[in-house]
Amino acid sequence: MNALVDPLSYREQSPDVRARFQALKERPVVLSVENLYKTFPTPGGPVTALKDLSFQVFRREFMCVIGPSGCGKSTLIRILAGLEDASDGQVLLDGKPVSGPGPDRGMVFQSYTLFPWLTVKQNVMFGPRMAGQGAAAEPEARQWIDLVGLSRFENSYPHQLSGGMKQRVAIARALANRPRILLMDEPFGALDAQTRSQMQSYLLQIWKNLDITILFITHDLDEAAFLADRILVLKANPGEVNEIIEVPVPRPRTPAQFVSPEFIATKYRIDHLIHPEAAHEMDSIPFPRMTVAGDDVE
Ligand SMILES: Nc1ncnc2c1ncn2[C@@H]1O[C@H](COP(=O)(O)OP(=O)(O)O)[C@@H](O)[C@H]1O
Ligand SMILES: [Mg+2]
Repeated sequence: MNALVDPLSYREQSPDVRARFQALKERPVVLSVENLYKTFPTPGGPVTALKDLSFQVFRREFMCVIGPSGCGKSTLIRILAGLEDASDGQVLLDGKPVSGPGPDRGMVFQSYTLFPWLTVKQNVMFGPRMAGQGAAAEPEARQWIDLVGLSRFENSYPHQLSGGMKQRVAIARALANRPRILLMDEPFGALDAQTRSQMQSYLLQIWKNLDITILFITHDLDEAAFLADRILVLKANPGEVNEIIEVPVPRPRTPAQFVSPEFIATKYRIDHLIHPEAAHEMDSIPFPRMTVAGDDVE
């Protein structure tokens, strides 16, 4: 295969990259998904959203999950969060089966999920308070709000914040429960391009400085290649593991790497897995000519 469309070939070429992934897989497994199935009953018959899904996420790994719309990404993350039951198979967190929601998993969704009637600080304190942390909850919350750079806004209400700021509070709120893993379902999907790219760099900084493992769902190729150690590419109908790509782009990541051969190879590979036929489909669309002779542009 052409080296440009196969990021694995970069790994073969570079002992550094090979060593990086070998070291990653020697770390303890935080999340283990084993032969997971999910079937929904629908009026038209059962729909299999996830089929025989197995993978592991290692301690402090940043794993992205990518796949076409409707391939079961949100279903997967809801099962990992304990919000939905699997039809078969199991999920282990630190070796223990997951059987419902718990503070060991922090969630951040695309839609803004802050409590609108609570201030930033009260939102962040909510989890620790529910967990029985009394007076300690407030200084603790301040620490997380500091970490996401919103100290000046601790008494603001969600409606007074921009989209990017709301998602920073959502991250602080998830981290305040001291989870083992952050589960993020397209968290920057509703943000404008510039804010989104700031949030990506920002999340990498948080990840680098905390003992946290991240499973991040996206349908954006650039986002996956920029953030991930490994990218789990799902097939659609039913959602199955297509391939797990070990991203050869070195860390620390910077936007300048968007034009590096490793980055472009990673994107090509994802695109090839998700849309193997796309290029040919476009070729076969019959375009009627609606211009007059002599005004050709190419
Ligand atoms: N509660 C449900 N009842 C029936 N079908 C569902 C339900 N939730 C999801 N599905 C179906 O499962 C598939 C995967 O959905 P989802 O996990 O939301 O995909 P994604 O997040 O990748 O876009 C889709 O075909 C969807 O219609
Ligand atoms: Mg989804």
